[in-house]
Amino acid sequence: MKRIAVVTGASSGLGREFVKLLEQEQGIQEIWLIARSKDKLSEMAQKSGGRMRAVPLDLSVHENIQKLGELLKAEQVSVRYLVNNAGYGKFGAYSDLSAEQSRNMIDLNISGVVETGLVCLPSMHRGSRILNIASLASTAPLPYLNIYAATKAFVRNYSRALNIELKPRGISVTAVCPGWMDTGFIANAQTGAKDSPTVFAAITKPDVVAAKALRDAKCGRELSVYGIFPKLTYAAAKLLPQQFIMRSWMMMQNMKSR
Ligand SMILES: NC(=O)c1ccc[n+]([C@@H]2O[C@H](COP(=O)([O-])OP(=O)(O)OC[C@H]3O[C@@H](n4cnc5c(N)ncnc54)[C@H](OP(=O)(O)O)[C@@H]3O)[C@@H](O)[C@H]2O)c1
Repeated sequence: MKRIAVVTGASSGLGREFVKLLEQEQGIQEIWLIARSKDKLSEMAQKSGGRMRAVPLDLSVHENIQKLGELLKAEQVSVRYLVNNAGYGKFGAYSDLSAEQSRNMIDLNISGVVETGLVCLPSMHRGSRILNIASLASTAPLPYLNIYAATKAFVRNYSRALNIELKPRGISVTAVCPGWMDTGFIANAQTGAKDSPTVFAAITKPDVVAAKALRDAKCGRELSVYGIFPKLTYAAAKLLPQQFIMRSWMMMQNMKSR
């Protein structure tokens, strides 16, 4: 059985860093690259000399994830790693986003993560690892990053409970909670809305986040938080009232309630 890793959102940012690390992993024979940008994925696969396979899919569409499941079944592979990383956010108030934008964010960040996991699980075995990319934004309700933060709260909570459910099968789930990272995320999140985050405290490169996440997953840890500022924020969010966290976020971002 061919041992593979599946990385979603592999075409840029954090996903691309996971691909680089998994390429060096002993025992991974092929990496399946998933994102919408067919050209970028094909170029990566071509350069890898047969080590990677481009699987261009829009994961916000339920039927596409089912197709991935059928492909995994037909190829009879063993998925050693699933990095559920594809996701995005949009800055602004509820009224700055169209219903379509809000729904699509939920479709990709929540349903995409759950369904991709479900179609991979039949091909996963003892020792397989799932890394679900949540965010530090998962730790509190965040006005003007509202839906995104709520989708990531789902991912974090879902992943931690799933980790317990999968223990008897010897499969671990790690919820990865990065702070701000220097990727395409921030530019893609801009909507031109008046109330948008502009302060990206302790922004970091994605390579160190991916390396820590992979180390944590290998140790079977249920959570991965990289860096001092994110760790302190994570701890504060557990200890302090959420009203206080929300007010601090608004002050830091120089936002006012309308
Ligand atoms: N950057 C940050 O500050 C930050 C902080 C915390 C958490 N995160 C999380 O980290 C993860 C990776 O984001 P990033 O920072 O690396 O941003 P990024 O550079 O924008 O990467 C996002 C990736 O997701 C893919 N993607 C977007 N929509 C998709 C869809 N419908 N179907 C399939 N793939 C899709 C993109 O590829 P295509 O456009 O080719 O589809 C791209 O490969 C996300 O889940 C994000 O929420 C980011």
